[in-house]
Amino acid sequence: KKGNYDHFMQKEIHEQPHSLTTTMRGRLKDNSVVLGGLKDHLKTIRHSRRIIFIGCGTSYNAALAARPFLEELSGIPVTMELASDLLDRQGPIYREDTAVFVSQSGETADTLLALEYALGNGALCVGVTNTVGSTLARRTHCGVHINAGCEIGVASTKAYTSQIVVMAMMALAIGADKISTQPRREAIINGLSDLPKNVAEVLKLDGEMRDLAKSLIDTQSLLVFGRGYNYATALEGALKVKEVALMHSEGMLAGEMKHGPLALVDETLPIIVIATHDACFSKQQSVIQQLHARKGRLIVMCSEGDATSVCPMGSCRVIEVPQVADCLQPVINIIPMQLLAYHLTVLRGYDVDQPRNLAKSVTTE
Ligand code: M6R
Repeated sequence: KKGNYDHFMQKEIHEQPHSLTTTMRGRLKDNSVVLGGLKDHLKTIRHSRRIIFIGCGTSYNAALAARPFLEELSGIPVTMELASDLLDRQGPIYREDTAVFVSQSGETADTLLALEYALGNGALCVGVTNTVGSTLARRTHCGVHINAGCEIGVASTKAYTSQIVVMAMMALAIGADKISTQPRREAIINGLSDLPKNVAEVLKLDGEMRDLAKSLIDTQSLLVFGRGYNYATALEGALKVKEVALMHSEGMLAGEMKHGPLALVDETLPIIVIATHDACFSKQQSVIQQLHARKGRLIVMCSEGDATSVCPMGSCRVIEVPQVADCLQPVINIIPMQLLAYHLTVLRGYDVDQPRNLAKSVTTE
């Protein structure tokens, strides 16, 4: 049921303070994380030679958002695989690997085929899914349900944020044997507890994002630059815009800007730069200056209170979001992008919940 909302996507975006609460319920206890579905396998995971994240679309992007903090807290190399590409290459997977499969539906054909491939190669296979009883849940050795509640809109929104939070909790559980990172883990756990409140806060940008959508309604293309924790936000934000608003949009690693994308910059092409406060902040400030010098049409997402330092020349549009623990910032930053994609779609007159040519669950290769 859509309740008071016009569309399922809209409802699912606004539901996120609640869905994230359900995702964390009973799992955060006295500065530690308890994941029942993983606890008997933590030792094996800690001894693995590498962790491989495998998924498609939004689920892949959620894993990409989790990669930096999983590497940081576990000390284990984490590599990324789009399921179809892994299968095309028949890439090497070993018994000493832990393969983490991420899928909202748990029924995506490419992800399931990659799972069978990894099982055949002897890896420990972990599932992260929203669907109890799905093939993914049944075929993996162990795993965690994200408990985001049923997601109906074809565009994945609340599942994305719950997937990141589950992978943050996984990283905390895997790294729990390290004394040296305890203060960092405690800070992240506190950040997780406060996350629903901060998500409710960022949802107040709804009207502002509708205004931004109005200003972008007729543009041909939209670029999104991110890096570090928010490289995934750039990819996922652009995926939302292209999939529902049917507008060309590309998420790009800001560090690659000078290696090609800079040639596209002119006064007309809108560019969103994600520049919230973290270790990459000064690098993003210099990206903004370089885009400004080329007269780019800039929209900057920054932490509350940073507007004048990200945009001293006052010539860009600024979206200010609440600042949270750096590794949880992708959960906050994707929400204005989801709202933007939603409003762009409505204003352009397209079907929000059932975009052209797409299915909620892709069950063929
Ligand atoms: O059910 P899954 O998470 O495995 O689905 C993977 C992709 O098909 C899915 O995330 C797709 O990219 C979404 N429609 C994006 O919003």
